[in-house]
Amino acid sequence: MKIHDKEFEKFIGADKISDRVKEIAKQINKDYKEKTPLFIAILNGSFMFASDLMKEVDIPSEISFVRVASYEDMQSSGDIKRLIGLSENIFNREVIVIEDIIDSGLTMDKMLEEFQSLGAKNVTIASLLTKPDNMKTEISVKYLGFEIADKFVVGYGLDYNGQGRNLKDIYQLK
Ligand code: IMP
Ligand code: MG
Repeated sequence: MKIHDKEFEKFIGADKISDRVKEIAKQINKDYKEKTPLFIAILNGSFMFASDLMKEVDIPSEISFVRVASYEDMQSSGDIKRLIGLSENIFNREVIVIEDIIDSGLTMDKMLEEFQSLGAKNVTIASLLTKPDNMKTEISVKYLGFEIADKFVVGYGLDYNGQGRNLKDIYQLK
């Protein structure tokens, strides 16, 4: 499959993603029973994961969104731009950050710092993917879909220069 100038091959199928998302939701339902968590999904990449995850969450909860951008081409620029901010008061809230992928960890590091400084009671992370070999800071991901190799991926919300977010499966650079 081709996106722009690059060839990609199927890597994680929709069924496998769906099974893992359901398991994560089940764990969250158990851990956050009676805690009314506030999910904060980091746009754009997490929109599909957030949507599928939330459909399986069956405890009282809320969801909100922030939007950041740091990626250009296939590299994290490290310079994280905030495009949409948080409108909720998160003081004393149990926050669960929903992310598509943690690569260098720089984006998440910045988010965590901010949510903690706003007085969240507790902040945990649900990330569909991590690339542990590329992580530049130590980030503990409580709810993790899959650990993957340090290779560029697209699909299920993730893009390559704007395209590929709509794909049901996750593809890896050939
Ligand atoms: P980080 O700051 O390096 O951890 O990068 C985080 C963001 O970069 C993620 O939330 C993604 O949106 C994007 N990103 C990282 N790796 C990939 C990839 O392999 N494909 C598409 N987007 C990626
Ligand atoms: Mg992202």
